[in-house]
Amino acid sequence: MSGRFISFEGIDGAGKSTHLEWYAERLREAGRDVLLTREPGGTGLAEALRALLLDEPMDAQTELLLMFAARRDHLERRLRPALAAGTWVVCDRFTDSTLAYQGAGRGGSVKRIHVLADWVHGDLWPDRTYLFDLPAEEALRRRTLARPADRFEAEDLAFFERVRAGYQAQAAAEPERFVVIDAAQDIDRIRSLLAADCARIR
Ligand code: TYD
Repeated sequence: MSGRFISFEGIDGAGKSTHLEWYAERLREAGRDVLLTREPGGTGLAEALRALLLDEPMDAQTELLLMFAARRDHLERRLRPALAAGTWVVCDRFTDSTLAYQGAGRGGSVKRIHVLADWVHGDLWPDRTYLFDLPAEEALRRRTLARPADRFEAEDLAFFERVRAGYQAQAAAEPERFVVIDAAQDIDRIRSLLAADCARIR
């Protein structure tokens, strides 16, 4: 009676946040118990780490380790208990973000990220991952309309092009888990895609 684990991914500015709450609501209407959460974050400790990760200068290895420390706390104290109770978890980002940002974006070792992922969450991976795909330039345009940049958002276009390419490679490698959404489409079109797919998850 374990719940399902669903993640939303994409480069900053691709627009996933617009759809998260809406998606969780579709699941609730379908009678599911839903936990809407995010990474890094989702517990007091992980949210404190998030604040440091987004704004405090640090080297790339520290960043990687803190991401997984936040993830471990979130998993042990929130995510796994929810799944065990039959709750469906909708998570804004998960380890695919680490592979894309710390791996492809920062040029960190993908092998090392997989070692940490195995250690921190073993074979628990999302049942479904929506990748909001958008050219880095368009995402940047959308972002500058929003608020001041954090440490990731302040990265240059080339960084986000690498992150995007990383995500696309991950999606191609796991076509069963990933649903790639062209985030340039209008909101209604994206929602009808999400609604149709959401009804398919068993
Ligand atoms: P984000 O999820 O985009 O939230 P908001 O919409 O409030 O900006 O911000 C989280 C940032 O953290 C984002 O820039 C990507 C980054 N991140 C990583 O680099 N690695 C990770 O493993 C995770 C979970 C996030």
